[in-house]
Amino acid sequence: MTFPISRQGLEQIAIVLAVGVVLFGLLALIRWRRGDDWRRFAQSAGFLGALVALSLGLAYTVAPNIPTPPVPILARLAQNPTPDTPASVAAGRAVYQANCVICHGPQGLGDGPAAFTLQPRPFNLQVHVPQHAPGELFYWISEGIPSTAMPAWSVVDPATGKPKLSDTERWEIIRFLQALAAGKAT
Ligand code: HEC
Repeated sequence: MTFPISRQGLEQIAIVLAVGVVLFGLLALIRWRRGDDWRRFAQSAGFLGALVALSLGLAYTVAPNIPTPPVPILARLAQNPTPDTPASVAAGRAVYQANCVICHGPQGLGDGPAAFTLQPRPFNLQVHVPQHAPGELFYWISEGIPSTAMPAWSVVDPATGKPKLSDTERWEIIRFLQALAAGKAT
């Protein structure tokens, strides 16, 4: 089991926490200058500061270094609404086989027939999928990955007026990819 948040993700979290340190620090300063009780704000700033140190500590020790584009915090926290059942995995597998194999290969190994023409080549999804939060995977599948061949699957197809793949289909693919990486699907 690798650490579930990437170094880049933890760096983003540290930035948000650092903003909190500054805000609480300013509040404490304002209250101190007014002669009010400032300690609670200073404590909050200190607590958030400790979390910044913890995030950065984890970021540069256990967290994997994955330079995929950063994902907005809320998108990262999104949870998979599809149940973790064989039916979801099977549905995801079918959508994956129809749309993704050409680049990612039938087992997600990055060896699809078109993979050899791509720069960068698709990575091994069996290795990479467990390294990411489901929300991150969903974001990349939905929005695509700039400066790679990875398309955005949430874009609306003008011919049908519907997204290329629905939200449910994209989440079911993630169920399949996670089962594949865990050796529970082929
Ligand atoms: C035209 C080729 C192509 C197709 C089709 C394609 N991908 Fe990709 N995909 C790529 C490339 C290239 C990358 C960038 C390298 C990488 O991150 O693996 C990528 C990246 C990804 C990543 C990020 C992996 C990581 O951790 O960096 C995921 C997840 C992914 N693709 C899933 C899918 C799914 C699911 C489908 C089908 C709905 C799909 N891709 C279809 C080429 C493709």
